[in-house]
Amino acid sequence: MIKIAVLVSGSGSNLQALIDANLSGQIVGVISNKPEAYALERAAKAGIQTAVIEHKQYPNREAFDDVMHQQLLDWDVDLVVLAGFMRILSAKFVKAWEGKMLNIHPSLLPYYKGMHTHQRVLNTGDVLHGCTVHYVTAELDAGQPLAQGVLKVNLHDNATSLANRVHVLEHLIYPQVVEWICTGAVQHTEQGVLYRGQAIKEPVQFCRF
Ligand code: GRF
Repeated sequence: MIKIAVLVSGSGSNLQALIDANLSGQIVGVISNKPEAYALERAAKAGIQTAVIEHKQYPNREAFDDVMHQQLLDWDVDLVVLAGFMRILSAKFVKAWEGKMLNIHPSLLPYYKGMHTHQRVLNTGDVLHGCTVHYVTAELDAGQPLAQGVLKVNLHDNATSLANRVHVLEHLIYPQVVEWICTGAVQHTEQGVLYRGQAIKEPVQFCRF
C-alpha cells in the first residue's frame, strides 16, 4: 500500500477530500509549516499523525526542507501531496521527490501560474477556468499535468465565487489523481508519465458547466 504524506499551510479542505475518499493508499502523516493551520485539526480528527515544522525557525529554505525531507523518510513516504502548502521548495528537495510529488494549482495550467489566479482570469475575461493536478518539478507550476477540472466563468462571478467553485472541482480531481497513483493507473517512468500504459499528452479533463 502506497504511503502518502500531505503538506499543508491552511484550511486543508483538499486534505479533507483526500481523507474522505478512502484511498487505496494510506495517508501516514500531515506536515504543516504553520502551527495554526486548521488542516492539522482535520488530520488529528482522522487519527493521522502530524508534524509542525515552522519555516521561520530555520536559517534558510534548504535547512527547512532538509527537516521536512527527514520527516518524510522517517514516515517511509512514497508520495508527497502538496495541498495548499504555501512555501516554495528548494531545488534539492524537489529533485529528491521528483516523480513522487503532486501539487494542485487553481488554474488551467499552463495559464495563470503563480498567485491570484481567479482575479487574473476575470481581468482577462476568460470563458473557462479551473484547476490542475500536476507533478512538481523545479520550475514553478510547470510539471506534467495529470488532470484538470474545468468550469465556465459566469457573468456574475467574482474572485471569491470563482475560488469556491474551483475548490469544488479540486475536491473532485485531487483524490481521483492520487487514487490513480495508488492503483498504478498513473506511473512516473524514465520514459515519461503513463496513464493506463499510454504516454500522457494532455491532462484528463473533468468538466462542470
Ligand atoms: C487550493 O486553492 C489549491 O489550489 C491551492 O491552495 C488552496 C488550498 O486550499 N494550491 P485548502 O487548504 O485545501 O482548502
